[in-house]
Amino acid sequence: MTRPAPTTSAEADDATAAPALRMTGVTLRLGSDEQQVTALDQVTLAVTAGEFLAVTGPSGSGKSSLLAVAGGLQTPTEGTVHVAGADLTTLTERRRTAHRRQHIGYVFQNANLMASLTAVEQLLLPAHLAGRLDNAARTRAAELLEAVGMAHRADRRPHQMSGGERQRIGLARALVLSPVVLLVDEPTSALDRARARDVADLLAEQTRKNNTATVMVTHDTEILDAADRVLTLRDGRLI
Ligand SMILES: Nc1ncnc2c1ncn2[C@@H]1O[C@H](COP(=O)(O)OP(=O)(O)O)[C@@H](O)[C@H]1O
Ligand SMILES: [Mg+2]
Repeated sequence: MTRPAPTTSAEADDATAAPALRMTGVTLRLGSDEQQVTALDQVTLAVTAGEFLAVTGPSGSGKSSLLAVAGGLQTPTEGTVHVAGADLTTLTERRRTAHRRQHIGYVFQNANLMASLTAVEQLLLPAHLAGRLDNAARTRAAELLEAVGMAHRADRRPHQMSGGERQRIGLARALVLSPVVLLVDEPTSALDRARARDVADLLAEQTRKNNTATVMVTHDTEILDAADRVLTLRDGRLI
């Protein structure tokens, strides 16, 4: 498959389409007053539907913080975060949670699976929470288990999975409801090279098929070519 070479500009070329995700002037300060860390420093970016953005940078550069703010898990010190038309920073906690469940898929680096649920149950949980546990959700869950190579492990619980298997279930779970915005933290850190390639290709494919705005943060430079665009963070700043 041929793709245009990744660009490095902070804005997509097509400025006419309203972005699914837009962060404007986002600064995040963490820690106590005496030991304050600027995890994000005036970050501005926009991601349109159907675009796969990769953000790379060294450890501690702010990659996970960027996703936490984009996903409404952390409120920035300054700036705005628009997802599917709503500014997450001005929503009440309750509405932010509802907006997140409806529009955002989040893949945590450590998967964050529920210890008591089997693989297939992990995938059905977001649909259950959103009140959309229907046949379409069950079919999609089965398709995604297959897509991440876990169909034969559908009944395993997290303690019966390897780190890589948990990571792939975490990814499949985020895709079940076809989110508007998909946020993915270091998806290949527990995977061997062949699996890492599969996951990067799956992200690219799902982004196109579902018209998702995908942001993947990673320090794995071997998978950056799967993205449409690559940005670099250093000390909380996009460079
Ligand atoms: N809860 C926290 N309290 C204080 N500093 C934090 C906290 N979480 C992260 N940081 C700091 O914020 C910076 C960015 O961290 P992070 O976003 O996790 O980077 P990355 O994902 O690129 O490794 C680092 O300097 C990190 O030490
Ligand atoms: Mg991180």
